[in-house]
Amino acid sequence: MPHVELAAGVYWVGAVDWDARRFHGLTTPRGTTYNSYLIVDEKTVLIDGVRAPQADIHREHIAAIADPASIDYVISNHAEPDHSGNLETIMAAVPKARLLATKDGVKRLEHIYHGGWNVRAVEDGEELDIGRRSLRFIHAPLLHWPETMFTYDPASATLFSCDAFGAHIASTQRFADQLGCQAVLAETKKYFAFLICAYRKALLQAMAKLEPLEINTVAPSHGPCWRGGDVGLLLENYASWARLELEEKAVIAFASMWGATRRMVGAAAEGVAAAGLPVRVYDLERSDLSEIIADAFNSRLVLLASPTFESGIYPPVEALIPYLRVPRIKGMHVGCLGSFGWGGGSVPKLIRLLEAEGHQVYQPALTNRFFPDAEGLQACRDFGRAAAEWARAAE
Ligand code: FEO
Repeated sequence: MPHVELAAGVYWVGAVDWDARRFHGLTTPRGTTYNSYLIVDEKTVLIDGVRAPQADIHREHIAAIADPASIDYVISNHAEPDHSGNLETIMAAVPKARLLATKDGVKRLEHIYHGGWNVRAVEDGEELDIGRRSLRFIHAPLLHWPETMFTYDPASATLFSCDAFGAHIASTQRFADQLGCQAVLAETKKYFAFLICAYRKALLQAMAKLEPLEINTVAPSHGPCWRGGDVGLLLENYASWARLELEEKAVIAFASMWGATRRMVGAAAEGVAAAGLPVRVYDLERSDLSEIIADAFNSRLVLLASPTFESGIYPPVEALIPYLRVPRIKGMHVGCLGSFGWGGGSVPKLIRLLEAEGHQVYQPALTNRFFPDAEGLQACRDFGRAAAEWARAAE
């Protein structure tokens, strides 16, 4: 995939990774890109690098535009190795170039690479004159490492936003509108839930700094860029997710050994829907946990259903709990149900776990011995309806 000119003098020179399927626990079924950008003005500036294995294609993309040895500045918006993995190669090739990062970024790059490079810390709001334009550095810590920052190019109104606003999508196309904005937003939301949501206060502070800026293009470090009117769509969705604005929908995640809990879930879903919440049901033994978290974190109601297994929670259901912790949200409206054969145990243990995580658990929970009969199924419908009404009435 050749380089792409995003705006006059601003080029995408990154690498496409078609094969990436997991990224720190986040599934990446569509692969990803490691975006790097080259700005050619009186000075030549490289923004971020790529993962080490993609160093050669990165160099080829740069060389198609400018002699890599002509690079004057290398900006590191984020020190994580998917954006800095080939910095050793880059800095060896351009020893005169100045490496720029936040103060924390300078430390972090040294801790990772021990490079002894020609590096300088930049201040929040500092501008770098590169000829016909001055790039502005906007500190944006904790998105999602402590050292992260944005770089803004006023000449093209482009925001280079590192991981924020990104998505794991490999593509030969560089803009969200070429791929379908809603499809890109779905992956963007997964990325947000997994990597950014835990730092949503920091995100909102960083977004407040963007308010005075004209932004024609958002150029993140992963996935497609956003341009024109679509920028507003991206920023509005991101802000809504960061404010944890709940959507009027429900998620039910379950697993079932012989189908009793599955039947309970089917009837409970009918009850939830009857109370006015569209519901999506996920079988945890067949579903992508990343997708469930992205769907659940801003849902009005989340129901977890587990049969009893060895006096406790069926392991595929228990495996969801650490994932639910990732967005660092407390106070979700959750409910529990499940079947048992003789002693029971899964539902009380689920409740204890969820309460310990700080969530609000609808009571009474619902259990059923083996398979529900007609009366049992009606109890499941009633449970789903009551849990949904409870969640909808909650502040
Ligand atoms: Fe894309 Fe935080 O690295």
